[in-house]
Amino acid sequence: MVARVIPVDPFDLVVLGATGDLAQRKIFPALCRRLADGQMPAEGRIIGAARSAMTPAEFKAMVAESLKVDHGAAPISAADRAAFLTAIDYVAVDARSDEGWGALAGMLRPDVTRAFYFSVAPALFGDLAQRVTEHGLATPETRIVVEKPFGHDLETARALNAILARHFTEAQIYRIDHYLGKETVQNLMAVRFANILFEPLWNARFVDHVQITVAETVGVGGRAEYYDHSGAMRDMVQNHLMQLLCLIAMEPPFNFEPDAVRDEKLKVIRALDPVAQDDIVRGQYGAGPDGPSYGDEVENPQSTTESYIALKVGISNWRWKGTPFYLRTGKRLAARASEIAVIFRDPPHSIFGEDAEWRENVLVIRLQPDEGMTLRVMIKEPGPGGMRLKDVALDMSFAEALGDDMQIPDAYERLIMDVIRGNQTLFMRGDEVEAAWAWSDPVIAGWQDGGARALPYAAGSAGPAAAADLLQRDGRLWREIG
Ligand code: BG6
Repeated sequence: MVARVIPVDPFDLVVLGATGDLAQRKIFPALCRRLADGQMPAEGRIIGAARSAMTPAEFKAMVAESLKVDHGAAPISAADRAAFLTAIDYVAVDARSDEGWGALAGMLRPDVTRAFYFSVAPALFGDLAQRVTEHGLATPETRIVVEKPFGHDLETARALNAILARHFTEAQIYRIDHYLGKETVQNLMAVRFANILFEPLWNARFVDHVQITVAETVGVGGRAEYYDHSGAMRDMVQNHLMQLLCLIAMEPPFNFEPDAVRDEKLKVIRALDPVAQDDIVRGQYGAGPDGPSYGDEVENPQSTTESYIALKVGISNWRWKGTPFYLRTGKRLAARASEIAVIFRDPPHSIFGEDAEWRENVLVIRLQPDEGMTLRVMIKEPGPGGMRLKDVALDMSFAEALGDDMQIPDAYERLIMDVIRGNQTLFMRGDEVEAAWAWSDPVIAGWQDGGARALPYAAGSAGPAAAADLLQRDGRLWREIG
């Protein structure tokens, strides 16, 4: 099956921080793929901007090298690379002075969609917003895109929102959580709201519990300073896992418009219970074949930051009261595997007798790798000898079901095109981000006040043993990672 592609309108996209890691690793390859696929029109133009004094030719050479690197997606052909390089340009600007901004103004076209991507540290958001408006680069329709981390806590997130609000309206601000751009994450909404099958069962009466797992094999790598200051709760739970939880738990929005969807997500965040400290397990990986221990990697052996966290979360509303959501995420785990598992309750009565083998129905939505869906159901084991039950998987890999030539696009491809199309559905609204911090701040403060250290776990394992107890004491088991 070949994806249908509708080209977006002509645009000027200014990528500020264009020589940085995110731009080179994610933004430019994503745009190149959209051009190759016919979605980025020939009149689409990308202007890289950064502090380095570089010529456009030098910048293009840099981007060309980045496009050659395999970032886990399908390789980009030489012809696609060449076509993309003709669409890009470069200008040196300084966020903290007026240098270069006049030149940038001269490069922008008045009659096309205009967007500024702030691919820089949040400390520079204010300066950039100010330069962009002061130099008259922003029209009322101009969009700005900002990356995570959006704040370190509620106070800093509020401050960032206030800085941006001085220069732009909420309708102009696109806060990225790249998990929302993942094809399978959007599929959660399709599975829930385009099928009659699941919705009647989607509540505490029929769902025993939900497990959300985002397991990574990588360590903190080159981001030691940022990560040691953040930890898994801030880096992953407050944003990515929170978004997954919202999409699973929210009420059906009345339509698929941005604010209808975001209103429903916000209601879920506001209904989250505070998390008790004994419902949290934090861990830190030890040394393994793939690298040093967490403490050595961040060059802070006394660090109390968690590279793993598991927590039990309750939602106080009519739909979910009594159904726990268990979340876990960590680095240097046994496998790279992200999934959402909805574990249904047992049928109220077994007509097959007390001794019948029994497994509950489970719906698993695999986000990565091998995106797909599995539904575990009970059937009769074939053959004579009585009614023996067996649980089998109705298993669907999206790649197989949709055909080999169906490439699952990188999250950034979808998100950047949505910016140009002016669709904010998959972007976080300011109040949503603040609500997520308002929930996670006390959780973090709880363990900071208690002085709790993160528990050690073996690199390549499923996390600290205590995480298993979190479910076992409720008579439940984590699904295996990988
Ligand atoms: C980022 C986190 O937002 O998401 C990283 O800062 C993490 O620590 C990454 O590795 C995971 O993203 P993905 O798309 O690889 O699951």
